[in-house]
Amino acid sequence: MKAILLAGGKGTRLRPLTIHTPKPIVPIFNRAFLHYQIDLLKQVPEIDEIILSLNYQPRRIEEIFGDGSALDIRIRYVVEPAPLGTAGAVKYAGDSLTDSVVVFNGDVLTQIDLAAVIRLHRERRARATIVLTPVEHPMAYGVVETDGEGNVRRFLEKPRPDEITTNHINAGIYVLEPDTFDRIPSAVPWSIERSYFPSLVERRETFVAYVYDGYWIDIGTPEKYAQVHRDIMDGRFVAPPFAHLPPPRASVSPDARIEDGATIEGPCFIDDGVLVKAGARIGPYSVVGRQTQIDEGAVIDGAILWPNCRISQEATVRNAIVGRHCHLGRSVTLDNGAVLGDKTTLTDYTRA
Ligand code: GDD
Ligand code: MG
Repeated sequence: MKAILLAGGKGTRLRPLTIHTPKPIVPIFNRAFLHYQIDLLKQVPEIDEIILSLNYQPRRIEEIFGDGSALDIRIRYVVEPAPLGTAGAVKYAGDSLTDSVVVFNGDVLTQIDLAAVIRLHRERRARATIVLTPVEHPMAYGVVETDGEGNVRRFLEKPRPDEITTNHINAGIYVLEPDTFDRIPSAVPWSIERSYFPSLVERRETFVAYVYDGYWIDIGTPEKYAQVHRDIMDGRFVAPPFAHLPPPRASVSPDARIEDGATIEGPCFIDDGVLVKAGARIGPYSVVGRQTQIDEGAVIDGAILWPNCRISQEATVRNAIVGRHCHLGRSVTLDNGAVLGDKTTLTDYTRA
């Protein structure tokens, strides 16, 4: 059985972070995001190949995962000549498939039991099975109405407030029968959410819902991207290196240098080669990427710093995200919700 990961989007809502780093490989602590999805797919022994459907900066992604042998799974890349939309991408990547295929949006993190979804798909002899999950604000997603037997009766992508009739949304995880792809036109953009699913409903084909209310998040905005880190540090999503770390859950690389007189408060993550100078403070829910240097008296509090940054003396970075190779001058204050792209330099005393 094959799995297609839709990982071709531009990640516009995560800009500027995604200008040089496509969304599927933004780091979560020190691992590219797709590692978490590959881990989940590997839990289903039947899945013997993962097809990465790419469009935006494909080489960057291929460089990281190669043919998959290092991860003990076969990985193949299908790069669209131009973005084909979510359905067009599935057809383009899965045109030669004959067996049921698992399709995953490349930006969702979840602990779903995928084998159970596949089982339901087979038991119901479904043409398509979709995972639904409850959320507080359905407007940003595809809302899905079902009947008493768990059949999908309506699919509405990005509804207006007055169109929301349920908080069950499309979790971006499907099992599909390839012989349903014949309705998807070749070589023109087509949406799985706006065209393919509504077409299944319209033609009354067996389109089944699997409701999941465990951990699920779409990492596609800076707020959600930061939330994922907090959830892993708090154990709401169980993943290394926090899975078995005792309180206060400070994960500090043995290869980092923390000078005497620096303060580290868990939960936090400090990667290889980091230098934290005397008098600096790393507060709870901070993530400090590889080779980043935090100078005397600087404060990092609930912020995510990507690798190779320099945070100068007395600077404060609070609840912000800082891309790679950034340089924050002396006494800079960066506060709530700021997001800096790679290689940003902030002059001494800047407030942002
Ligand atoms: N290959 C390819 N080509 N991939 C694409 C394309 C394309 O043209 N367009 C989008 N993708 C990929 C994105 O990289 C992402 O992994 C996935 O398809 C979904 O696109 P998003 O842009 O993240 O969509 P969304 O988050 O607004 O909405 C989707 O996900 C929600 C759940 O997170 C929809 O599927 C909603 O119905 C759903 O609720
Ligand atoms: Mg998304």
